[in-house]
Amino acid sequence: MLANKTIVLGITGSIAAYKAADIASKLTQAGARVEVIMTEAATKFIAPLTLRSLTGQPVVTDMFEPAAEWSIEHIALAEAANVVVIAPATANVIAKLAAGISDDMLCCTVLATKAPVIVAPAMNVNMFENTITQENLAKLKARGFIIIDPAYGRLASGKMGLGRLAEVEEIIGTIKQVLGRSGDLAGKRIVVTAGGTQERIDPVRHIGNRSSGKMGYAVAEAARDRGAEVKLITAPTSLPEPAGIEVIHIETAVQMKEAVAKATPQADALIMAAAVADYQPKSVAKAKIKKETPSLTLELVRTPDILTEVKGNFLKVGFAAESEDVVANARQKLEKKQLDLIVANDITDSSSGFGTDTNKVTLISQDGNVESLPLLTKREVADRMLDKVVELLGKKP
Ligand code: C5P
Repeated sequence: MLANKTIVLGITGSIAAYKAADIASKLTQAGARVEVIMTEAATKFIAPLTLRSLTGQPVVTDMFEPAAEWSIEHIALAEAANVVVIAPATANVIAKLAAGISDDMLCCTVLATKAPVIVAPAMNVNMFENTITQENLAKLKARGFIIIDPAYGRLASGKMGLGRLAEVEEIIGTIKQVLGRSGDLAGKRIVVTAGGTQERIDPVRHIGNRSSGKMGYAVAEAARDRGAEVKLITAPTSLPEPAGIEVIHIETAVQMKEAVAKATPQADALIMAAAVADYQPKSVAKAKIKKETPSLTLELVRTPDILTEVKGNFLKVGFAAESEDVVANARQKLEKKQLDLIVANDITDSSSGFGTDTNKVTLISQDGNVESLPLLTKREVADRMLDKVVELLGKKP
């Protein structure tokens, strides 16, 4: 989705400027054309040559630099940009943008652009918390700028505080979300579930499964990148929270059902990629169970079947992890759970299913259409599935 997009990356004078090299590199690798504008102070922290080498593009540092391709017409970059990202953004540049000052190439470009502007502040905690900076940020927000809040952590001063540049993945996720606003899922609300639920036995133990959550997270990110407003209801996973997505953490099947019931009334589609436990302990021990007896019997009872029980006028998509008669079993589930689409995968294939980065699935829809996909990354599977979701949403009255 970043291919052929022009991203203007503004870098200002913060110690976090070195992280901008990573952002530039990752965006370039993803196929974007990255045009870097550095303030003079930024060049004291990181060399323009680094950015030039990573992006393969000239780096603008001086408005009056005759050699710079873009400086001839100072608003050319403003017009070429699909999005402008300032990371890191100092208190100084934030103040200048809020006041409409345009005394350097970066501020000129931001003032002249019609593209969305993302600002990722990084500074000393006191500078960040200062009312002046907060007022400036509020002003930018009110003008439609997207602010990626800094994180708490160790600052250049050695102190702990709020002011660290947000994680690179969060910045890139936000860029994708902003660029995806006009995608084919723009305006659609999609609820995605992910991960394996954990059914408590006692305060320290649970029954779980091997789901990594990767498939559900890939679906949530793909939907975000196509413009959807995404709610991700997730069981515990080791995955980082994706940017631009409302993430709701739950543990058990019952909690997932409650979260789904709360999120779906406004939804256009529910995509259940979670591996929901089929059974839960009949009762949860209040204290840790001691190993006093040679054997222990746990009585299990059925969990609610979320997909079957949740009702509403939204598209329902299920996943079916099968180890035999994959398509036939998935078809049965499609009927039984009254789904619009089911994604069936053969979990006996080692490159497919639980924990892997790839998946080999068959998409079966209510209208009888069966599409077997080759082995793809989970992100590719997510996009192929969403192609189908877009088609089915289009047909829905
Ligand atoms: O019946 P089975 O668990 O194989 O169905 C898989 C699909 O049903 C998945 O989409 C899963 O998220 C969903 N499911 C559910 N509630 C359950 C069990 C599974 O919604 N209790």
